[in-house]
Amino acid sequence: MKKDESYYLMREQLKEWVEDSQWIIDEEYIKDKEYYDCVKDIFNNKAFQSMNQFIQHGTTTTRAHSIQVSYLAYHMAKARGLDYVSVARAGLLHDLFLYDWHTHAKETGNRFHGFTHPRTALKNAEKEFQLNDIERNCILRHMWPLTPIPPKYKEAFLITYADKYCSLAEVFVGWKMRAAQVMAKLTNA
Ligand SMILES: [Fe+2]
Ligand SMILES: [Fe+2]
Repeated sequence: MKKDESYYLMREQLKEWVEDSQWIIDEEYIKDKEYYDCVKDIFNNKAFQSMNQFIQHGTTTTRAHSIQVSYLAYHMAKARGLDYVSVARAGLLHDLFLYDWHTHAKETGNRFHGFTHPRTALKNAEKEFQLNDIERNCILRHMWPLTPIPPKYKEAFLITYADKYCSLAEVFVGWKMRAAQVMAKLTNA
């Protein structure tokens, strides 16, 4: 399939959103009325807001990571004619496990956060919101292929993809920042 100009523009835009998360700090997503109308109730929810206290990767909070996954996957779903409302909502809820995974193993003995947190997130999300099948599947299968059962819907594949893309970028930015700090220390020594 021949890729048109809008495909490349979209790809560049997605890359920008992942590499520089200032747009999340500035709450730019609120200005995107179509997106915000789909997810406003989640943004106003206390459990969702509490993700701001947990770090996901590097310096990115779990809340910021979830916004990034949601917004990226929402645009990809829209461009592909998929259920973008479910994707936007599931993106915000896919990591609603509500603990600091860095200390979780020490505190609870559960060393399998990578495998167990999708089910915890789903349980928490169902306590707060009425979910449809696509949203449930997006949350429960987002760690595929680490968890062996693949997603059932195209929308859920988009969430797994956006999640991995954002997570890798967060880790990479964290490494880059740490390397810069070490370099600064060495040059000042
Ligand atoms: Fe996750
Ligand atoms: Fe995630």
